[in-house]
Amino acid sequence: PDRLTFIRQLPKAELHVHIEGTLEPDLIFRLAQRNGVTLPYADVDALRAAYQFTNLQSFLDLYYAGAAVLLTEQDFYDMTMAYLTRIAQDGVVHTEIMFDPQTHTERGVPIADVFAGIARALREGKAKWGITSCLIMSFLRHLSEQAAFDTLDEALPLRADYADVWLGIGLDSGEQGNPPEKFERVYARCRELGFYLVAHAGEEGPADYVSGALDKLNVIRIDHGVRSEEDPALVARLAARRIPLTVCPLSNLKLKVVNDMREHNLKRLLDQGLCVTINSDDPAYFGGYLLDNYVAVAQALDLDDEDLVKLARNSMDARFPVFVSQS
Ligand code: HPA
Ligand code: ZN
Repeated sequence: PDRLTFIRQLPKAELHVHIEGTLEPDLIFRLAQRNGVTLPYADVDALRAAYQFTNLQSFLDLYYAGAAVLLTEQDFYDMTMAYLTRIAQDGVVHTEIMFDPQTHTERGVPIADVFAGIARALREGKAKWGITSCLIMSFLRHLSEQAAFDTLDEALPLRADYADVWLGIGLDSGEQGNPPEKFERVYARCRELGFYLVAHAGEEGPADYVSGALDKLNVIRIDHGVRSEEDPALVARLAARRIPLTVCPLSNLKLKVVNDMREHNLKRLLDQGLCVTINSDDPAYFGGYLLDNYVAVAQALDLDDEDLVKLARNSMDARFPVFVSQS
């Protein structure tokens, strides 16, 4: 079979995707119209033309602006269903989805509607395509630790209703100047509560933030982590402990974490024995879903079939323990 078919038929898990980052421009416009929200763009093409990023923050500004059209339970359902429909075609068998409740509650959207809409789609997606899934509630790191505690307190009463989906806690948004230590206490609380812990680290921030996420937050997986390479002792530790990195190649290219895909360190990290996985991050903004990310790195880094099998297998091994133990 050709490359695309070969990759498509490998059982793959997506472990790093922000559901708000799957909101395609045409859906943004449809929801804006449905909700009477005025957008500062004339049409879908004008919005898409604005997707030119220079760094993480320049993307986040647009990403939060796009998310402002999400108001109702149905909106969150429609967004999540569109994502699942798309990945079902890519041979994705499992997905662990991040969402940012603070982006919505600060606009007055009830957190219960956010949970309800996303979870309804996930349950339907499992019935329809057999795609297993769960949710990682992520704190915005540019906000305070107290704001994270407040969000956790708002969400906890919903936990019993979503015990089948809400399994994880994550940390995202602007990394520089917002080190993992800032969230040490809220992570300790989430750990006591039995959540699986992950955090973005070493995307734009230094390797120290990866060590910090491991030592201070006790995460079981690192989102991005590509800058770990700057600290050889850290790389050795990640390899020895098989701490998964959820690497997002097209994201790294669009946000200029790398200037050329041929310079991406994914293959070097893989060859050093790290549990590297491929993910899409914010596919509506970065020009590709999971399969596109596999194809982009396979071409740029000249990956062979063995590498691709290893990457897909890593993604299945790096699922949360409850899913790994089920299979
Ligand atoms: N990094 C940090 N925060 C994010 C990202 C990312 O790549 N995508 C959505 N929120
Ligand atoms: Zn991310």
